[in-house]
Amino acid sequence: MSELQHLLNNNDAWAKKMERERPGFFHALEAQQRPKYLWIGCSDSRVPANEITGLMPGEVFVHRNVANLVIHSDVNCLAVLDFALRVLKVEHVIVCGHYGCGGVQAALEPSAGRMVDHWIRHVRDIAKFYRDELESLPNDAERNRRLCELNVAVQVTHVRESPSFQEASSRGVKVHGWIYGLSNGRLKDLQPTVDAVRAHLDM
Ligand code: CO
Repeated sequence: MSELQHLLNNNDAWAKKMERERPGFFHALEAQQRPKYLWIGCSDSRVPANEITGLMPGEVFVHRNVANLVIHSDVNCLAVLDFALRVLKVEHVIVCGHYGCGGVQAALEPSAGRMVDHWIRHVRDIAKFYRDELESLPNDAERNRRLCELNVAVQVTHVRESPSFQEASSRGVKVHGWIYGLSNGRLKDLQPTVDAVRAHLDM
């Protein structure tokens, strides 16, 4: 028996329960997905997109990477964004970070020379750009929290600047910056930070 048999058993029970509660659910989804939302979040196992937003399979298209980054040269993320906007025609793009993000914390510490540190360089650049604001905060915990927020806001800007989004925005597609609290399970809209970062970067 597979050492992952318990996962397969869980799946069996879940599929039966779904079909019992919503007959025809899988059959309907098989034909087509029509998600309204694209979620760009952190790979962190504690931030599952569907679960924390109460969305069912088929309702949210998901891209996750360490520290929820949208990098201009990341073909993976750009392809997801383009596909979600042009083919699936999602109506909202949600960039969601989380407090206590290990990727963001790593950007505030000396590089450990790991593969992931190359990726985190992008967050390190944001920390440098906002050094004055971050250094004005009283402690490391506050700096980490603020960098988590600033990182989301910068990634929102990257979505907004992408050609795929610019085309889609003419049909009313919106991009949102959110952050999730691991300690309380709550999502928060970061619109004020998103607006501040946008004004700063547009200068
Ligand atoms: Co994270």
